[in-house]
This record gives sequence, structure tokens and C-alpha cells, in this order.
Amino acid sequence: MSVQPTITFAPLRMPETGTLVILAGAEGALPAGVPQGVVEPLQKAIAVAKFKGKDLSTVEAIAPNGSSLDRIVVIGTAGDKPFGEEEWLRLGGTIAGGTKGDGPVTVWGDGAATPATPADLATIGLGILLRSYKFDRYKSKKTAPGEEPENEAARSYTIAAAAPEEARVAFAVSQAVADGVMLARDLVNEPANVLTTTEYAARIEALASTGLDIEVLDEARMDELKMRALLGVAQGSPMPPRLCIMRWNGGPEGEAPVAFVGKGVIFDTGGISIKPAAGMDEMKGDMGGSAAVVGLMRALAGRKAKVNAIGVVGLVENAVDGNAQRPGDIVTAMSGTTIEVLNTDAEGRLVLADALWYTQDRFKPKFMVNLATLTGAIIVALGNHHAGLFSNNDELANRLLAAGLETGEKVWRMPLGKEYDKLIEGKFADIKNIGAGRAAGATTAAQFLQRFVNDVPWAHLDVAGTAMGSPANEYNQSWASGFGVRLLNKLVEEHYEAR
Ligand code: BES
Ligand code: MN
Ligand code: ZN
Repeated sequence: MSVQPTITFAPLRMPETGTLVILAGAEGALPAGVPQGVVEPLQKAIAVAKFKGKDLSTVEAIAPNGSSLDRIVVIGTAGDKPFGEEEWLRLGGTIAGGTKGDGPVTVWGDGAATPATPADLATIGLGILLRSYKFDRYKSKKTAPGEEPENEAARSYTIAAAAPEEARVAFAVSQAVADGVMLARDLVNEPANVLTTTEYAARIEALASTGLDIEVLDEARMDELKMRALLGVAQGSPMPPRLCIMRWNGGPEGEAPVAFVGKGVIFDTGGISIKPAAGMDEMKGDMGGSAAVVGLMRALAGRKAKVNAIGVVGLVENAVDGNAQRPGDIVTAMSGTTIEVLNTDAEGRLVLADALWYTQDRFKPKFMVNLATLTGAIIVALGNHHAGLFSNNDELANRLLAAGLETGEKVWRMPLGKEYDKLIEGKFADIKNIGAGRAAGATTAAQFLQRFVNDVPWAHLDVAGTAMGSPANEYNQSWASGFGVRLLNKLVEEHYEAR
């Protein structure tokens, strides 16, 4: 992770130096407190640019004579609807993107079309942090040829606030969320030769410093537990599998936890059913579901969420050697269900089968949400803009849909049903790990998972199209997006925290 900008909140006051960012309302209306000497050149710039104050459009002016400011940037905040959380976040991202490499930046938030609450100002700060994220630890030179070297240490943002103390309190929560999102991005961006299963487990263990209880199960322990579905995937790799359990006990003692489960395939070659060469490098991100779980747990601990939460991630490499699992092999999962492995590239569901069963069996959670870069089929269906949502519980599904709209981490509900479940009936065993050809590929994968949830309220998020490779936006410029951390943090915050 690159150097983070510093973000402070201070009473509304005109800055003397640096860049001034002013939020404007409809028709470019400027806030009342801006001095006349600054307003005049701005109004000229606004007229020349035909600036209407809409949808994060920007207009720039040089500072007026006699001012020691460097730059003034006006950003429009008027639109068809009032700003919600995602708009504040996009605004923060726009601010950071437009002031890259500047000295100190002051954000004058008073003129926004939707009046900003302290929480909204904190979300602007979150947007600045997330936009500023860069994964450049393997770049010898941190700037591209021709690019101005950035004085990263000098990047500081002051957000002018009528109630700075309240904004600061709200921002402490945003900082915890940012830490979780950036951790998830780092984990996904790391290559598999660095983020091996054991290194991944070590990074999770290091999160004990945030107050999480961590447990790591090794191969021998998983063998005792009869997790043969997960172990079968791992057996073609010299990297040993791990199952990591993170616990955050911030809720009432004895209250059933909420549980999050992630697919952590640190690299997916496809196994014996090997993948084509083109684009295979992207399979270093096949642990994106698990990264979201780890990032979420870090965020919950960082903001001391009043909830009991469990995170479980299954870490394996799906590789090929003489000991690798073969198509046609039959394994017995921890639940006792027998599985015909007809395609070794449908490995994520095998890992999750044991992780899900274990989670409900041991923790008796209120619900389980699993995240997985599970199928190419979900990318065919939804592209990069929604994660697939599959659920056996309408209340949980509707809460996730709503949290998606609020955070901008959008999910789209996809069907489950008996007809689809039939497609995974096995010929030689109870079930098989693929459906009928390519038809409904994301759903047949979800049906497979459902066989291991034991009727616990459950939702599966297929994040193959959203965890990585999604188009850059105002608050994410990285290949790995950290998708899921803000979504699930919102779900917990809105419905499962003691007040
Ligand atoms: N990890 C892949 C799914 C994937 C594809 C994630 C592209 C991100 C981008 C998964 O393990 C896989 O290989 N799925 C197969 C399943 C098939 C063999 C039934 C797929 O989607 O092709
Ligand atoms: Mn695969
Ligand atoms: Zn995979």
C-alpha cells in the first residue's frame, strides 16, 4: 500500500495557501462564506465553462491577485437526486484525483446541494483514502515515465466542517473501513509466489493485533475433521492448505454470531482440467472472496463493531502435479455428502463445501454470507458491475440488495431452484461438481454450495466479475477493488449491531 494522505477536520475558515476545493450547488451556486475576492474570478470561470454544478463536474480557476492560494477547484454536487453514501464517496475520490500531487488541500464542503452531515464529510475522507490507494510495492520507480513525481508525504486534506469534532468521530469509523478495503486490495493484488497459503495465514494471524481472535487449522487438523473436498483441491500443490478462523466478539456474550466465509484459492491453474494460458495470471486473484472476508473482519475490529462475527477462509492452491486430483475422483465432504469431481477447475465450490459446513456446524450462526470468485458464468451474466447474489432467505437477500445500492457495491439476485439442483445430481456419487454444460453455470455452482449450508439462512456472492478487473472509478483505480468489505460492513451496521 502506498503512503496514505492525512485527513483532518477543522472549523470553516478560508485557507491561506495550497489548493482550495469548493463544493457548488445547482447552477454553480457558491457557498456564502467564500470571500468576495475569490468569488469574482470563480464566477467568471463558471460562466466561461458553462458550469452547471452537476454530477461531480469540475471547473478550475487560478487564485485571484493578492491571494496566496495556488489553485481553486469547484466541484458540482447538484444532480437528479440528493447525495447518498456512494455519491459522497465518489466526491471524495474526485477530489483526490483532481488534486494529486498538490500541496495541502482544503475542502470547503458548505455549498453542497445536499447539506453534508458529519458522516457525509467522513465519507468524503473515505473516498480520498480509497482513491489514493496504489499497489506499487514491486515498482522500482514509483512514477510512470513522464509523470511528475508525487510528493506523497505532503498530501494533506483538511475538510472544513461546521462540527469538526463530530466529523472526526465519524471518520475514525471510515478509517477502519478504509483499512479493511485496502487490506483486501493488497491481498488480491499480491502475486501467488508471495501470497502463498502459509504467508496468507501469517498475515491473517498478524491481525490479532487489531483485537481479532485467530485460529489456523492445518492439513492434519482438516484431515481429522474429514474435510476431503477441500483437501482434494489442495493435493496437487506443494503449498499446504489452511483454514483460518477470525472471531470478533463485540456483541452481547452468548449471542449467535454472523458468519462470513470466503474462497481463498491463492492461484487457480484449473488443475488437471487445466485452464488456457491467456489471462491465467489473473487467477492470482482467485482468493478475492476470502480477501473481502479478511478485510471486513479487520474493519469490524477496527471500528469496534457491536456484533459477534466470524470470518472463515479456506486457503488452497489449485495446482497440478502427479498427486493432483483427477477428473472422476470421488471425495466425501465433511458433511458426509459424496462428490464426483468431474472438472478439477470447479474447485472453489469444493473448498467452500467444507468451509460452509464447518462454519454452521461449529458456530451455529444467525446467517452465513459466502463470497467467491466462483464462476466465469457470472461475468457473462452481469459483467463487472454487479456481483451475483444467491440466497435461500429473502430477508437476508433484500438487506444485501439495499446495502449494495447504498454503498455502490451492487448485487443482483439470481435464481435457485429444484430444477437447477437436479443438474448436479451425481452418476456415481451424491452430487457432481459441475452442472449440465454451460447452461446456468453460476446457478448450478450456487446449488452446489447450498447442499452444504444445512438450511441456515445463507447468501452466496459470486464476485468473479467485481473483486478484480473491474473498470476504474472515482474511488478505485486498482485492479483489485476490495469489493464486499463496504457492502458487508453496511449490512452488519444496519441490521446486526447492538445499539
Ligand atoms: N476461479 C474460476 C472462476 C473465475 C473465472 C473467476 C474468471 C474469475 C474470473 C473458477 O474456479 C472456475 O474455474 N470456474 C469454472 C467452472 C466450470 C469448470 C464449471 C468456470 O467458470 O469456467
Ligand atoms: Mn477453477
Ligand atoms: Zn477458481
